[in-house]
Amino acid sequence: MTAPVDPTGTEAWATLTELQHDFQPDLRGWFAADPQRAATYTFTAGDLFVDLSKNFLNPQIKQALIALAEQVGLTDRIEQMFSGQHINVTEDRAVLHTALRAPEDGTLEVDGQDVVGEVHEVLRRVYEFADKVRGGTWTGVTGKRIETVVNIGIGGSDLGPVMAYEALLPYKQDGLTARFISNIDPTDAYTKTHDLDPETTLFIVSSKTFGTLETLTNARLSRSWLLDGLIASGAISGDEDSRKEAVAKHFVAVSTALDKVADFGIDPANAFGFWDWVGGRYSVDSAIGTSLAVAIGPDNFADFLAGFHKIDEHFRTTPLEQNVPALMGLLNVWYNNFFGAETHAVLPYAQYLHRFPAYLQQLTMESNGKGVRYDGSPVTTSTGEVFWGEPGTNGQHAFYQLIHQGTRLIPCDFITVANPSHPLQDGDVDVHELFLANFFAQTRALAFGKTADQVRAEGTPESIVPARVFTGNRPTSSIMAPALTPAVLGQLVALYEHITFTEGTVWGIDSFDQWGVELGKQLALEVAPAVGGDADALANQDSSTQSLIDYYRSQRRR
Ligand code: F6P
Repeated sequence: MTAPVDPTGTEAWATLTELQHDFQPDLRGWFAADPQRAATYTFTAGDLFVDLSKNFLNPQIKQALIALAEQVGLTDRIEQMFSGQHINVTEDRAVLHTALRAPEDGTLEVDGQDVVGEVHEVLRRVYEFADKVRGGTWTGVTGKRIETVVNIGIGGSDLGPVMAYEALLPYKQDGLTARFISNIDPTDAYTKTHDLDPETTLFIVSSKTFGTLETLTNARLSRSWLLDGLIASGAISGDEDSRKEAVAKHFVAVSTALDKVADFGIDPANAFGFWDWVGGRYSVDSAIGTSLAVAIGPDNFADFLAGFHKIDEHFRTTPLEQNVPALMGLLNVWYNNFFGAETHAVLPYAQYLHRFPAYLQQLTMESNGKGVRYDGSPVTTSTGEVFWGEPGTNGQHAFYQLIHQGTRLIPCDFITVANPSHPLQDGDVDVHELFLANFFAQTRALAFGKTADQVRAEGTPESIVPARVFTGNRPTSSIMAPALTPAVLGQLVALYEHITFTEGTVWGIDSFDQWGVELGKQLALEVAPAVGGDADALANQDSSTQSLIDYYRSQRRR
């Protein structure tokens, strides 16, 4: 593995620095001067129609960004990832989420393993299981059909499945719903189970490591809820065998640690494996998506995977000049490192994508929130912008004020689809068209603003003219697709995976480890006895932690 190139030492960085120095964004002027601007900067990737024209882009900037990608070796890094080299250096692992969606006739041997064959073997088992649940041949212990599938997982073992389930609700089988327990706050397990019938509920314990405190705790809580409920209703006797049988019919697992699955009491025959070369936040397209596969069915799940693959192919084979994930990642670097942008909003104009920003938070921030490069040396520039967002139009009535008129530069991605999931009319008005009008209007307002003269021309009193001026020149990217299908969702996710990879490559970081989450986990275990009243453990805490725990213990009602 060659050492990362310091991006700030490249010729391209120097060029970008110079370009930024004299830079005067003028989206109004650029569009007025060049009727071809939209066409020049609009690209397609799979079914995605991506308009980058309202960004701080001109031919020199685009060229310099591409030069930066070349000088940090992006093309080689892409090839290293796709071919299974151990680019996750700190964990000494290949990074092969792209193999999870490779077509069945593909081959890829990594560390002596035929990865594609194994992927399709697990998929075949997941699909078989999904069909059984959907068709009612997999029943609960009393022979009743499964009506609710509860995924228990956290982070990548939750955010992907829940985001995709919500996004693809119209594809869900009638009479079957999914729920997701993730938080160790007991409220989560309680609210997700208290109104369910144990006889018709199936739990999928999803954990790559099968060692995550939250997931194992919630799995135990759910197992108790199931067995207590079945015993209380007389559905099972409660003896050892009946308990075992109930767990076997109501619990399956997804993990890379099948030995730990067995220790928990789940029959390994009811477990779906995956591999250490799949990062948690890149795993929705592995067996971690089993709850989704059950809800939407194998055919739709296969379409979802095919969508990912389309963008993988685009990313791997399209020249950088038209390579959408690469260009979007490079633009993010441009805003981050040359304009000091610290956050990036992702604004889906599709209600079913309401969990997409939350999903992206893990994908982008757990991947690129790093202060050292993959060789252990410090990063040479700022990394890892904060991704956030809410669906439009709700966000418009909440935080868009700051994006339009605040002092911070917040690049935004606007995402929508041409065909609504539920077309509705309000009298003569097609409500989806009204919704889209907002989508189009927002990026226009952000780009072109409203001048003081325009405000005055509306008869605004002089004293409030400044408050009503919109400066414009606020960069946005617009992403459109024909409809929110499983394939399009797969394309959107893969797009952001590769944007994240592009940024990580420029910064020279390992986007596939997550050591930053470990200390908090370790300390939680250390603090737990103090919370429970262990005086010695309490004495070992700092004074702030002691006082907070004292407050908790003085307030708790038991
Ligand atoms: O704590 C972070 C993390 O390791 C994520 O990267 C991962 O997605 C999540 O925890 C859950 O891990 P697991 O699937 O092993 O339970």
